[in-house]
Amino acid sequence: MKRYVCILSGLAFAIVLMNYSFVSADAAKGQAIFNDAKVGNCKTCHDTGDKKKVGPGLKGVTDRQPKEWLQKWLADPQAVWDANDEHVQDLKKRMNKVDKPKTAMKPAIKLTPEQVADVIDFLGTLK
Ligand code: HEC
Repeated sequence: MKRYVCILSGLAFAIVLMNYSFVSADAAKGQAIFNDAKVGNCKTCHDTGDKKKVGPGLKGVTDRQPKEWLQKWLADPQAVWDANDEHVQDLKKRMNKVDKPKTAMKPAIKLTPEQVADVIDFLGTLK
């Protein structure tokens, strides 16, 4: 019986660990994509703190932008810019670009939906 409990708790521990490593693996992959000049290249234009570079510093970005918005933005920034929803209007104000027809986030980012999810996980760690 004791042995049984031991095996069960060992199993539970392994499952917790597995979940933990899945979550952190995604954010870690996202960080690699963010930094890699040949993949996301985000680092060239974005600080992970508050500082503005070409684009805004991305600290706390998952608090100001909803996840679905981030997914769309990372798939096609210009399309989202054109849609001009409240989040874009807010971004335009922050960037002093209220009348600008083109976003400077280009060329179009070419990430798979999985890579986008990893990057968003990573953005969620920037608090
Ligand atoms: C060539 C520069 C450039 C690159 C590369 C770039 N961005 Fe951007 N990004 C911008 C600019 C500039 C803006 C703000 C819109 C504008 O001014 O046109 C922006 C806006 C954003 C926003 C909205 C921020 C907010 O405060 O609402 C997010 C999120 C973002 N970028 C994430 C990324 C990620 C993730 C990558 C990499 C996959 C990336 N960007 C690559 C320039 C860039």
